[in-house]
Amino acid sequence: MGRVSKTLFGQLTALPADPILSLSTAFAAETNPNKIDLGVGIYRDEAGRTPVMAAVLEAEERLLHSEGSKAYMVPAGDEAFNSGIRDLLLGKDHAVLSQARVNSIQTLGGCGALRIGAELIKRGNSASRVWVSDPTWANHLPLLGSAGLAIEKYPYYDYEGRRIDFDAMLSALQQVEAGDVVLLHGCCHNPSGADLNLEQWQKLTELALEKRFTPFIDVAYQGLAIGLEEDAAGWRLMSSKVPEMLIAISCSKNFGLYRERTGVLCVQAESKRQAQAIKSQVLSIARQSYSMPPSHGALIAGMILGDESLYAQWTSELSEMRRRIVAMREVLVERLGDGCSDRNFDFIRSEFGMFSFLGIGSEQVVRLREEFGIYMVDSTRINVAGLNRSNIEYFTESLSALLCQSRYCRLDNSGFI
Ligand SMILES: Cc1ncc(COP(=O)(O)O)c(C=O)c1O
Repeated sequence: MGRVSKTLFGQLTALPADPILSLSTAFAAETNPNKIDLGVGIYRDEAGRTPVMAAVLEAEERLLHSEGSKAYMVPAGDEAFNSGIRDLLLGKDHAVLSQARVNSIQTLGGCGALRIGAELIKRGNSASRVWVSDPTWANHLPLLGSAGLAIEKYPYYDYEGRRIDFDAMLSALQQVEAGDVVLLHGCCHNPSGADLNLEQWQKLTELALEKRFTPFIDVAYQGLAIGLEEDAAGWRLMSSKVPEMLIAISCSKNFGLYRERTGVLCVQAESKRQAQAIKSQVLSIARQSYSMPPSHGALIAGMILGDESLYAQWTSELSEMRRRIVAMREVLVERLGDGCSDRNFDFIRSEFGMFSFLGIGSEQVVRLREEFGIYMVDSTRINVAGLNRSNIEYFTESLSALLCQSRYCRLDNSGFI
């Protein structure tokens, strides 16, 4: 028997603060006028803001005049949204859609999709282990682990070579057993920005078939790597070959709907009949946790996906976001190349989405924060979208100054932590 306290919660102790959220709090209190936030993972425009997208504003305006009721949504959420996302994800003509093997429910963001997916895996096989990339987005561990699943890691990013260590990944995944699940980032790998190419997706597909594991794809950044269609090529290929697959989709970044908690869980089954059985299981998991999803974000994204002019507006805004990130990557590499450091940052150019590891020493991360007001997480992951033409010079000069010092003073120059 555990220690008995006088009250129910009396024995609970305070947990350590979330490192990214506490970084944001510290950044808000920072008084340096040149401060830069490269920590939190949200898109920022040239002016450093995260504005509501024009397509979203227009859809909201239309919704204001048409919604008419705030009665509950059905547990699966808005069907126009679910099917719109399914088509965007897999392509309208994908065979698994015409075979009616994919079902989807609206979830509370990508996090909600990951969590519901984890509960479903547990219902399928409570002994299932979920394999995640090392490194991965920190929240994957609690989201999947707290459903009671065992988590294993496979090597992914080669910190020395600044690329995916695909051989090591494949060799670790040889240990995966039938009934296990392998979590893959669809595109814009968080935190490394290093994405799988099509040939690697093909090899992983073959391995999934051989080992009989189920892929679970986390799609939080579709459209932010190369393009909406291009980014989807890998998981579409995999989906066409494997019997079962889960996909967690977030609309937080590509629709900018962060606080509306808008996402989808898609589950691909072996047959149409099995897809129906799975749908009833997924709905019961949702019913046991929050019952019905919220409507606002899903109605907006559903409307955008189903309306030609809103869709055109949205894709053009999304392309602009992507182009800005790519441009910042270019400028960053050029400017760091001009500095006195003998380090090569070219890898930043070949990575995708908002994140890359800078690969500087831990002492330099602290000094950037304390001496220059530049905030990034300890792993050296930076949000490239936190840079713009007004602050990039200050950032690269500050970083170059530290790197030059470490070169001449032989401070910690060891690289990754
Ligand atoms: C890799 C990854 N998956 C999922 C999510 C979850 O997104 P959401 O905010 O929609 O829950 C994020 C958000 O940062 C992410 O980076």
